[in-house]
Amino acid sequence: MLERIESLRGEALRALEAVEDATALEAWRIAYLGRKGRVSALMDLIGSLPREERPAFGQAANELKRTLEAAFEERKEALARQELARALAAEALDVTLPGRPTGPGHLHITTQTLRKIIAIFAEMGFQVYESPDVETDEMNFGLLNMPPHHPARDMWDTFWISDEASTGSTQGLLLRTHTSPGQIRVMRERCPEPIRVILPGKCYRYEQITARSEHQFYQVEGLAVGHGITLSDLIGTAAEFARRFYGPERRVRIRGSYFPFTEPSIEVDMDCILCHGAGCRVCKQSGWLEVAGAGMVHPVVLQNGGYDPDEWSGFAFGFGVERPAMVKYSIDDIRLFYGNDLRFLRQF
Ligand code: DAH
Repeated sequence: MLERIESLRGEALRALEAVEDATALEAWRIAYLGRKGRVSALMDLIGSLPREERPAFGQAANELKRTLEAAFEERKEALARQELARALAAEALDVTLPGRPTGPGHLHITTQTLRKIIAIFAEMGFQVYESPDVETDEMNFGLLNMPPHHPARDMWDTFWISDEASTGSTQGLLLRTHTSPGQIRVMRERCPEPIRVILPGKCYRYEQITARSEHQFYQVEGLAVGHGITLSDLIGTAAEFARRFYGPERRVRIRGSYFPFTEPSIEVDMDCILCHGAGCRVCKQSGWLEVAGAGMVHPVVLQNGGYDPDEWSGFAFGFGVERPAMVKYSIDDIRLFYGNDLRFLRQF
């Protein structure tokens, strides 16, 4: 009888070695270790044995059962390890493959244009002065010679941040409608030194967005304060800038205008860079492009900045940044600048 046990052990272990997957393993378990399996069947024989053989047989059968159970567990683990190795091999990454190319980024067209403008003015001796986007009513309007209810305030539709201003208080907050309030800040900080600065920055207007106008855009303000500064200095500066930015053949002209913070006030025009003055779609057949508002700093504004207008004079100007870029690169819609369409942005 003990030989039968031995031969079953041998057979079962050989069969187990041939098992290669979970299904076969389960079939093996049922065949040998299941309730109606071969080991159970063997144990059932115990009753048919002579009494003296039973203990030895029982012991051997139990040991067989334990051996097969241990072998089963071992095989199960070995199969799991094999399965894992197979899965890892199948999903392996080839770390030597070349990566997906990512092109280097570049500066936004507005930033590029702004930097070019700043570089030109820097060569002409202007420093950059930055002033805040959130301003008081007093800085944006009042100290620029527009007290509450001054009709010229209507030239700038305003995003108000607090209500006080609409009630006539000068302490109300707003998003600056132009970079001009920086003139007051720089004068108050530098007085009584002479000044030659530009003030680049974002401006905000409560206006309909169209192909020609955005409600957020950049301006560059300029301010020179000194002794004996005249309108010719302003015109010379404007002409020099136009030539350095657009090309040496550019010409400028001036027209009388009105701004509350300058006296006299002028508009600076430049001959159209596309048609050179002959008249085209871009210059609306006039041959000229408007490039800046400007003028001699109003005595009241000089005074508000701390400078005595009897001793000091100055010129100021302000112009948009996106418009010159539009003219230079023939961009016909200002909304493209902040639409975040990479097909547009990548062209610059
Ligand atoms: N601040 C004006 C605007 O936003 C532009 C301007 C005009 C600025 C004349 C100046 C100036 O400094 O002198 O429309």
